[in-house]
Amino acid sequence: METLLTRQEIAGAVERIGKEITRDFQGESVVLVGVLKGACLFLSDLARQIELNATFDFIAVRSYGTKKASAGEVQLIKDVTTPLRDQNVVLVEDILDTGLTLTFLRKHFDAHHPRAFKIAALLDKPSRRLAAVEADYVGFRIPDKFVVGYGLDHAERFRNLPDICILEEGGQE
Ligand code: IMP
Ligand code: MG
Repeated sequence: METLLTRQEIAGAVERIGKEITRDFQGESVVLVGVLKGACLFLSDLARQIELNATFDFIAVRSYGTKKASAGEVQLIKDVTTPLRDQNVVLVEDILDTGLTLTFLRKHFDAHHPRAFKIAALLDKPSRRLAAVEADYVGFRIPDKFVVGYGLDHAERFRNLPDICILEEGGQE
């Protein structure tokens, strides 16, 4: 597989985003909410680059569609367990693609009445956007290629690759 982003490039972006979050929430605390399972590796590295009082939580969603794209039907599988009212929430997502998942999650978090709600996405594929949603912190804008590694999967495989690679076979479905 062709490497799109090396582990060193990823580490550099994660460090930069950590600094941005540290700067933006200086003197406050944050709740990092990872979207399972893809954001696990990003969250664990990002958390160590944030010099603030930080706690973790996790949320899980399922989107119906083909293996390589969500179809608009997003369902909550697991909610957070932390009370988020008046908290600074940073949602940590592996990739922002069509935006349908984050549109659903943004609405979901609004109902928790956080003090601030920010989105950190390691990757962004702006050319595929169907819903008007943008991340506040972005690692890399990438072309319309299906990528795996560093938490990202194809049919649950490849999440443990240290680099982000382009999965060839067939492209987007
Ligand atoms: P969205 O709702 O289309 O923005 O999709 C977001 C979700 O789709 C991500 O959390 C990923 O699980 C999945 N996804 C989108 N593009 C890719 C990719 O290139 N590789 C792996 N998963 C992807
Ligand atoms: Mg995912």
